[in-house]
Amino acid sequence: MTTPSTAWHIESANGTTRLYKGLVEWMADDPVRRDYMRYYASCARGRTLVGGLGLGLLSDFCRARGIDVTTVELDLDLIRLMGMDAQHGDAWEWAQRGGWDTIILDLWPDTAEPTEDLTEKAAAIREANPGVTLIIHGYPSLSDC
Ligand SMILES: C[S@@+](CC[C@H](N)C(=O)[O-])C[C@H]1O[C@@H](n2cnc3c(N)ncnc32)[C@H](O)[C@@H]1O
Repeated sequence: MTTPSTAWHIESANGTTRLYKGLVEWMADDPVRRDYMRYYASCARGRTLVGGLGLGLLSDFCRARGIDVTTVELDLDLIRLMGMDAQHGDAWEWAQRGGWDTIILDLWPDTAEPTEDLTEKAAAIREANPGVTLIIHGYPSLSDC
């Protein structure tokens, strides 16, 4: 019996690039997802935390607007694969360090439905970052934009 691979890899076909971990698709640069990321980037101002890296679209859109962005990614293998500027760590923990004007968290594979109750985590992040613009992808009721 072989163990299924859980390695990150990228596939490109028909003009779309897809990021997989094993069999699970985590991100793709199709027009819908690009629009989501472009919209989130349009909400960013000041010191901005982006978690996690994925294909780096959101971070790139922020940088294209001249935003001071710090990207935090949990998985070192993905940082190495992408070869992009990202800090290795847990974005929830970085968010609670304080000092952020904008925090955008997009942490789930595209195949995942939001199921967790993140109300307490969002409240703790807001307390640590007064006046923050907070976006938690998949949780519009906890997000400002
Ligand atoms: C859907 S992808 C992000 C796509 C990204 N917004 C883009 O524009 O390409 C989710 C990413 O979050 C990362 N991740 C998951 N949990 C995390 C955490 N607690 N802290 C940091 N990164 C995390 C995953 O490894 C993955 O790279």
